[in-house]
Amino acid sequence: MKITIIGTGYVGLVTGACLAELGNDVFCLDVDSKKIEILNNGGIPIHEPGLEEIVARNRAAGRIRFSTDVEASVAHGDVQFIAVGTPPDEDGSADLQYVLAAARNIGKYMNAFKVVVDKSTVPVGTADRVAAALQSELTARGSDANFSVVSNPEFLKEGAAVEDFMRPDRIVIGCDNSPQGEKARGMMKKLYTPFNRNHERTYWMDVRSAEFTKYAANAMLATRISFMNELANLADHVGADIEAVRHGIGSDPRIGHSFLYAGCGYGGSCFPKDVQALERTAQDYGLNLLILQAVEAVNARQKQVLGNKILQRFEQNLKGRHFAIWGLAFKPNTDDMRAASSRVLLGELLRNGATVAVYDPVSMEEAKRVFALDFADTPELLSSIRFATSPMDALDGADALAIVTEWKAFRSPDFDQVKARLKQAIIFDGRNLFEPGVMTEIGIEYHGIGRSVLTRK
Ligand code: UDX
Repeated sequence: MKITIIGTGYVGLVTGACLAELGNDVFCLDVDSKKIEILNNGGIPIHEPGLEEIVARNRAAGRIRFSTDVEASVAHGDVQFIAVGTPPDEDGSADLQYVLAAARNIGKYMNAFKVVVDKSTVPVGTADRVAAALQSELTARGSDANFSVVSNPEFLKEGAAVEDFMRPDRIVIGCDNSPQGEKARGMMKKLYTPFNRNHERTYWMDVRSAEFTKYAANAMLATRISFMNELANLADHVGADIEAVRHGIGSDPRIGHSFLYAGCGYGGSCFPKDVQALERTAQDYGLNLLILQAVEAVNARQKQVLGNKILQRFEQNLKGRHFAIWGLAFKPNTDDMRAASSRVLLGELLRNGATVAVYDPVSMEEAKRVFALDFADTPELLSSIRFATSPMDALDGADALAIVTEWKAFRSPDFDQVKARLKQAIIFDGRNLFEPGVMTEIGIEYHGIGRSVLTRK
């Protein structure tokens, strides 16, 4: 099928590449000519396992192309995916200006029936606004071309996005019941046929429910994490081990094991933004989502948990202290540092007068960019950061190591070397990578999340 993808960010690029891999003829549009140039030169602007190979293969086969030409992009696809960013506004609601601009562009140039798919995560009711924006352009130029707006939210995890796209748990598609909606349903069904061969994975529903499903899924997952983080903090006080508790409750099939890991808070482009946007939508209707407000507040507090533990351990005085941080990305297998807990910890350490050496297997360049912004007003803090060349290099002379991201490369370090390099053998582990008992045996003072019972003397 002929597909256009508007927006070659993380979601758009993965969607375009995977649809090309399935044999479709894909046209990817972006307003950012630099991005398009990189893609046309065989580069990939993001780090996502497997993506580069798929893009290269399909580019060579002529099944995917990249362009800034809006008119050509509208002419190309019978199905037009809108996969542009929806950054949070000042008030936490999703900013729809890019989504609506994409809709207007389609309206400006389309001459035949188009299925317009909202792939970006957009508040409930956005499809109607997309339809209105597009229709106003058609009306302005007296065109009677018609279209249908469909909601097809993505459930891609960064670092596993290609796998998630190719082997989805579920595909959610919302269409309306108009004749155009029925036509769109047929086209979407055809497009997703390869995923439904063995068993049906598509959940068909109305447009608003599909839009809502995406927020509900992310809000539920964020809730589980904040809930476990809150319990972990209590576990530290009452002398229970949150990891034992996690196994104990996760074995109940009604609860299940996944997304119950206590840690130093969730980050990324989705959970923080989507939780806020859902709260904001509720407020528009005069409702307060009390649970989600708490989820957000608990997460903000949890991002400070490592800094607080460090401050407490060093008697609230970090002047002249030096620390190592392993892991800067908001999670492993990505260079994404949006809402990453590392940024909160780093700020806390630096503002308290410490110097810090940081290391991440992939996001060092992104870290340099992000920290320059975070500390734009305090250049003296920026100059107290050393960008290390390896995990071990980061440790030299540090009073303690703090682990923020659970990269595989950090899971089984040479502890003799760790001890030798650190000035003091102390680890603050924000992702509970190690067994507290083992650490004590090795001679490392260990502070996990919700596990202090195991290291208490
Ligand atoms: C998430 C959803 O999982 C995905 O379905 C949606 O499409 C986009 O948002 P992503 O943001 O890529 O994906 O990351 P995810 O793997 O879900 O992790 C989010 C954050 O939660 C990370 O910071 C991670 O460290 C944290 N997390 C996750 C925990 O703290 N504990 C857990 O048990 C799981």
